[in-house]
Amino acid sequence: MDKLLIQGGKRLSGEISISGAKNAALPILCAGLLTAGDLELSNVPHLHDVATMLKLLGQTGLKVAQDGERVTLNGSAITKLEAPYEMVKTMRASILVLGPLLARFGEAKVSLPGGCAIGSRPVDQHIKGLQALGAEISIEGGYIYAKCKKLKGTRIVTDMITVTGTENLLMAATLAEGETILENAAREPEVTDLAHLLVAMGAKIEGIGTDRLVIQGVPELHGAKHAVISDRIEAATFLCAVAAAGGDITLRNTRTDIMDAALDKLREMGLEMTIGTDSIRAQMHRRPTPVSFRTTEYPGFPTDMQAQFMAVNTVADGASRVTETIFENRFMHVQEMNRLGAAIETDGNTAFIKGVEQLIGAPVMATDLRASASLVIAALAARGETLVDRIYHLDRGYDRMEVKLSAVGADIRRIK
Ligand code: EPZ
Repeated sequence: MDKLLIQGGKRLSGEISISGAKNAALPILCAGLLTAGDLELSNVPHLHDVATMLKLLGQTGLKVAQDGERVTLNGSAITKLEAPYEMVKTMRASILVLGPLLARFGEAKVSLPGGCAIGSRPVDQHIKGLQALGAEISIEGGYIYAKCKKLKGTRIVTDMITVTGTENLLMAATLAEGETILENAAREPEVTDLAHLLVAMGAKIEGIGTDRLVIQGVPELHGAKHAVISDRIEAATFLCAVAAAGGDITLRNTRTDIMDAALDKLREMGLEMTIGTDSIRAQMHRRPTPVSFRTTEYPGFPTDMQAQFMAVNTVADGASRVTETIFENRFMHVQEMNRLGAAIETDGNTAFIKGVEQLIGAPVMATDLRASASLVIAALAARGETLVDRIYHLDRGYDRMEVKLSAVGADIRRIK
């Protein structure tokens, strides 16, 4: 199992290129199931989750060709309408094959995703929405069996805002008969990126970017070319790294118009930023000011940034409060950070952080994707050596993080 060995205390300086967004790439790859044409995708990030999704899609018969960040898909010879447990158990996003397979082929067999470290994360809204579109769905032996000759458009109101729920239902609705209205739709930029791809494939979607999507079903979708949007969570993760460790870095190939909540909090922390259209120069000359926040759906403060901002708060010059409203167990990083000398107490879904002068390196263990990133950030700010174990979590969602950090002066290396 790989580990990351980090000697903290080094200031960062230089340039980092941001990769394509994991949470846009995963649904976009599944859109390849919706057409017999070619999807020519670029800016697809080099991630473990992407590799898993391509393997899952390939075993359905979808043709997959990958060349670096370019991926070409062709759905003209799909034979297996299934997502087996051994693949789904490692990645919840596999549920995103359900809507497309059902919409195009009238049936699908998809393993129920297991829970994960950050919470139970059911898929009841996905199922409820597909049933509303006319699907007959039964759950047996840990599998979802879905059948429907032809989905029929209808109005769907999800009980809560769900990102992949919106994406599954949006993809299904593009080939349903008639009009579908998705109320309470997620507005994350990754949902918007998927919608733009679907329109390029011939789908008819109104209200893109809002919480009300109106889709007119079409008989079929054709191929398209699309560049995956830049990863706003990766970008904000590196901004937290320089906020905690100090220095002067420039992010390249980043979208700066979809990160307002995170950028506002980083400014409050004392990060000085020069914002370009696709670059951000960030300088940190002092100890961070603590910031309190509560996570919420886009455009509010993203839950995927909660752990990384908490890492900066651990060395800030004062107290802060962090409330996690999306997942019921997304504080797994707290006890690991306290091993580095942080002073964090949790009470239900709120954490109280007292900033300390200095963290001290120690062996810690990653528990989930963004928790891993937060431990790297804390280790960069700590004095001495930190060994982060189980970094397969990190590799799921970050494209060679230690390579990018070494290039800007961090003393970090991967050990097998
Ligand atoms: C997406 O997960 C992201 N993953 C997550 O990113 C992100 O944290 C999350 O959205 C919230 O922004 C991908 O896009 C692949 P939800 P998703 O459905 O869609 C409950 C990362 O770090 N819910 O929006 O699974 C659910 O339990 C990952 O990159 C139901 O109850 O999240 C949660 O409490 C982690 N029933 C809340 O809604 C459902 O049917 C939001 O979940 C669906 C969701």
